[in-house]
Amino acid sequence: MSNFWSKTVQSTELLDTSRKEKFNENNRKLWFNLLQIRNDLKVLEVGCGSGHFTNMIKTYYPTCEVYGIDLDDNNIKFAKTESRKLNIDVHYQVADVKHLPFEDNSFDIVFSHTLIEHLPFDDFIKEQKRVLKKGGKLIIMRVDMVKKNDKPFMYLEDEINQVYSGISYPKNTNVGGYLEDPDITMQRLDQYGFNKIKFNYDRIIFYMPDIESSKKVAISQIEKNYQTKLSNAIFVTNRGKVSAKTKDKLLNLLKRQYEERLRLLNLNKKIFDFQSSLLITICAKK
Ligand SMILES: C[S@@+](CC[C@H](N)C(=O)[O-])C[C@H]1O[C@@H](n2cnc3c(N)ncnc32)[C@H](O)[C@@H]1O
Repeated sequence: MSNFWSKTVQSTELLDTSRKEKFNENNRKLWFNLLQIRNDLKVLEVGCGSGHFTNMIKTYYPTCEVYGIDLDDNNIKFAKTESRKLNIDVHYQVADVKHLPFEDNSFDIVFSHTLIEHLPFDDFIKEQKRVLKKGGKLIIMRVDMVKKNDKPFMYLEDEINQVYSGISYPKNTNVGGYLEDPDITMQRLDQYGFNKIKFNYDRIIFYMPDIESSKKVAISQIEKNYQTKLSNAIFVTNRGKVSAKTKDKLLNLLKRQYEERLRLLNLNKKIFDFQSSLLITICAKK
């Protein structure tokens, strides 16, 4: 059992708000297509974090049998609580992807989102291959860290960045330490005997309030965006052990930024700011 991720890398709440922002009602069809979800499948997410992906699958595909494992105890507790709130039955368990507590050849789909970059490939893949059925699909998702051309709302952004640049906190050297180009991952899968190896590259635009069809959706995007920034600020300032004054300053700047963004929306003054992430999806058949 471990709380490493939620205590030192990213709090469970931050992970969850950022995932709810990215994988939402508007773009869920794209995510489900990439994950190749259909009814009646037995699906496992490894490194499921706060459980947002697994919960979305069970909510929209209730006849699927859905499992989620994660090394972090806090994340699994959170995922279980969320699934109870949603009144869905997902099988969550604390476990290591290196030792999966499942039978050989038992899943139609085994997937992960932003896990591959955190451990050596052999450790990542061996057990996933074992628990996949013959003909089952392995889906590996991760974010492309390199390319980015978002247009964030810049009001007070320099002041906010200035506060962040004054905070020093211990870096996690082994987190993200196994990031590699997708061609290398595909070569490795080929060597592991996987077939029909495919690759997708998608830009997920998860925040674009001025081109939303309804004001309600626009407001909810601005609020989720603010919640993500707020959770991040709280986590960073707690880890960095900064003074209460600095923390207050940062939280106040973020609040003012959020209020200004809402004010512009209410005035119908469009600025077309947007945020996105580049998603790499590699799919292979056992
Ligand atoms: C970046 S988070 C992604 C969580 C989730 N997939 C998502 O995108 O919302 C990485 C997750 O992998 C988990 N993790 C790291 N190493 C693991 C391992 N060896 N076995 C299982 N989970 C692991 C962490 O606890 C963390 O929850």
